[in-house]
Amino acid sequence: MAADHATMLKSIVDGFASTFGDAAGVAVAMAPGRVNLLGDHTDYNDGYVLPMTIDRGVYLAIRKREDRAVRVASIRYGELVEYELDEFEKPEPGSWPSYLLGVVEELRTRELIDSGFDAVVDGNLNLGAGLSSSAALEVATAVSLQHIFGFEMSAVEMVKLSQYVEHTYANVLCGIMDQFACRVGQQGHALFLDCRSLDYRNVPVELGDYRIVIVSSEVRRSLASSAYNTRRAECQQAVDHFATLAPGVQALRDVSAELFNAHGGDLPENVRRRVAHVISENQRVLDAAASLQSGDLESMGRSMTESHASLRDDFEVSCPELDFLVELANSVAGVLGARMTGGGFGGCMVCIAHQNTIGTLVDSLCEDYEARFGLTPGIFVLEGNLEAGPIALDET
Ligand code: GLA
Repeated sequence: MAADHATMLKSIVDGFASTFGDAAGVAVAMAPGRVNLLGDHTDYNDGYVLPMTIDRGVYLAIRKREDRAVRVASIRYGELVEYELDEFEKPEPGSWPSYLLGVVEELRTRELIDSGFDAVVDGNLNLGAGLSSSAALEVATAVSLQHIFGFEMSAVEMVKLSQYVEHTYANVLCGIMDQFACRVGQQGHALFLDCRSLDYRNVPVELGDYRIVIVSSEVRRSLASSAYNTRRAECQQAVDHFATLAPGVQALRDVSAELFNAHGGDLPENVRRRVAHVISENQRVLDAAASLQSGDLESMGRSMTESHASLRDDFEVSCPELDFLVELANSVAGVLGARMTGGGFGGCMVCIAHQNTIGTLVDSLCEDYEARFGLTPGIFVLEGNLEAGPIALDET
């Protein structure tokens, strides 16, 4: 991890110098991606989640300008965007400038930035792999601008601003988990978050001889945003139903098992199953946070595997490739549990594996997955995790 982080720092500063002539006085900041250990499709139902940051993310090298020109280059896309701060035009929703410049524009309208700047952006996250590259881009932009302009903004306000940018500039109605994890997640910890109150707790991740392994299915999440919005609508339909029966119900978080058992049957079958997932998933997050806290990784692993079954059968956001990876991982001795992570329809699987079994796990994943789907999975073993913020340039 450290080597990759150091490489990123050097290459982003070099990239800045080659794009803008020199790197005198440049500042660098980053925000990591996240993997969700438990609790998917619970955040926008006011429920619980248990994500943690990873050791990869989005980096920005940035320098203030005297005038109001904004020049931002993406190393990965080999593109440069230039405009005057006061003449912003919305970029194509979902394009890299939409996330980045959406944050700039929101800070400008709040009068928190008062001049232009030059910036270069790069990263070592797989884009679109379900590891929150977009949240990391929003948060990295916000923390780097805060660093050079010195404005006051709490971490939670920054999370909300980043989520707002995702809704209004990228047209994705995401919940709050990703931005929260990327901004607030701490090294050595997972983050237990109550998505209603936004109360959170850092849960130490002490794995002993075990490791968190993330496996990308390499399946493009092309259907993900439309299906995501459909799932949100189905959850809302269920909320409307239960609210007529119990006035206190404002979100699926408020639907008790008793209320669900008594009246869930009145819902269309697919909607009933969505609710079943959310109720059981919230309980699993509570259980898993307690298991992680007490170092009971076996129980944590069981919750992860149960969560996968629920996402596959009840919430129906998995896909054959992810199901296969989960089954394969669970068939290897020394793997405690596995699940898809994030929004679904592709993206990544996460599992907890004994360090001595990782060689076998990697071989089996590569051979069998390739044989079945003709795709080479991207596999990485988490060696630590990073947290968002400015980086001192002698930090290598
Ligand atoms: C995406 C969204 C999150 C969350 C997950 C599913 O990552 O951005 O807000 O809803 O899907 O848990």
